[in-house]
Amino acid sequence: MKVTVIGTGFVGVVSAAVYASFGHEVMGLDIDEHKIKLLEQGEVPFYESGLKELLLEQQATGKLHFTTSYEKAIGQAEIIIIAVGTPSAADETADLRYVLASAKSLAPHLTEDAIVVIKSTVPPGTLEKVIATIQAQTNVTFHGASMPEFLREGSAVHDTLHPDRIVIGADNEFVFTKLTELHSALQAPIVRCKVASAQMAKYTANAYLATRITFINEIANLCEKNGADINEVIEAIGYDQRIGKHYWYPGLGYGGSCFPKDVKELAAYSRSVGEDGNLLNRINEINKERIFRLLTKFGQEIGGFEHKTVALLGLSFKPNTDDMREAPSTKIIPYLSSQGAQVLSYDPMATYQNQEHDAHEQKNTIQEACSEADVIMAVVEWPEITGFDFTQVKANKKQFFIDARNQFDRQIIEAAGYTYLAIGKR
Ligand code: UGA
Repeated sequence: MKVTVIGTGFVGVVSAAVYASFGHEVMGLDIDEHKIKLLEQGEVPFYESGLKELLLEQQATGKLHFTTSYEKAIGQAEIIIIAVGTPSAADETADLRYVLASAKSLAPHLTEDAIVVIKSTVPPGTLEKVIATIQAQTNVTFHGASMPEFLREGSAVHDTLHPDRIVIGADNEFVFTKLTELHSALQAPIVRCKVASAQMAKYTANAYLATRITFINEIANLCEKNGADINEVIEAIGYDQRIGKHYWYPGLGYGGSCFPKDVKELAAYSRSVGEDGNLLNRINEINKERIFRLLTKFGQEIGGFEHKTVALLGLSFKPNTDDMREAPSTKIIPYLSSQGAQVLSYDPMATYQNQEHDAHEQKNTIQEACSEADVIMAVVEWPEITGFDFTQVKANKKQFFIDARNQFDRQIIEAAGYTYLAIGKR
């Protein structure tokens, strides 16, 4: 099949490369000339494990190309997948300007019976807007569909090659059959539903996972008060098949480019339809407050951050990515600076851009960041950080070790001479 993917972010590049690996002829389209130039040369403009290899492999077969030309990419495509960003607008709703701009740009080049599929995370009602935008410019018969993406950054290639399900929101047989055929190389179950249901399913999945994380963080707060240990609680409840032990290690709240914006969108939607008391409004607030609540608590436990050197381990929003969107470090560094601390950070991939008042320097190794620290704060569970032997960097002075992801063994850290602090345990 001839497929065009609009947008060369995580979802766009991974989808384009994976569809090419299924044997389809794929064109990746973006208005950013620099990104397209890099991609044409086999370079991925961000870090995603395994993606460069897949890209090069598919480019070598001649099945995968990139362009900035709508005319070239749309004129020949049977299936056009919109995978551009939908960031939060100032009012916390999803900003659809890139989705609608791509609809406007593709319209003049659309061919008869082409299928325009929205993969970007968008609220119900968006496909209708995309269709109206296209119809304002062309008389050709075309079709619309919604096919949300569920991949995670850091394991995007694996998730796309082994999805739990493919969700196709389509209201006619031709579209459903074509989009099913697009995925015929996969074993995954295909869920056919209404367009609005597909879009709500995407928001619901992210909102549920964000709620799950927030819930366990709230329970962790209570464990700190009553002497229970959150890890033991998770172990004890996790044997219940309805609950499970997966996907709720406590921490600094959820970050990244998806959960914060998708919860905000659903919360804003709930307010717009008079459901002001909807749980998601509170989830959103709790997550925004969480880092500051924890930093205040840790500050009290270590006698304040003023004049302390803090080694901040991990800058990205999670391991195996260089993505800094809504990363804890973007709040921690300004906060610690405002408290009079000096921050020395380390991350295997990500880079922090200093703000005006930041007392921060990024180091090249864990050793450099930690050697003179008063406080070591481990905030991202990169294997290089969780596997590090901290006896190597123990200085001959009192040092605190803040395990903000509960990844370390208290006994080992204490045996190395640190005062150990974690989440959801005293
Ligand atoms: C998330 C979803 O997991 C994907 O299914 C979805 O497709 C994607 O958003 C999206 O909408 O594009 P992602 O943001 O890449 O994927 O990252 P996750 O691994 O889900 O982590 C999100 C945040 O939750 C991170 O800040 C992570 O540290 C935090 N988290 C995750 C926890 O605090 N505890 C956990 O147990 C798991």
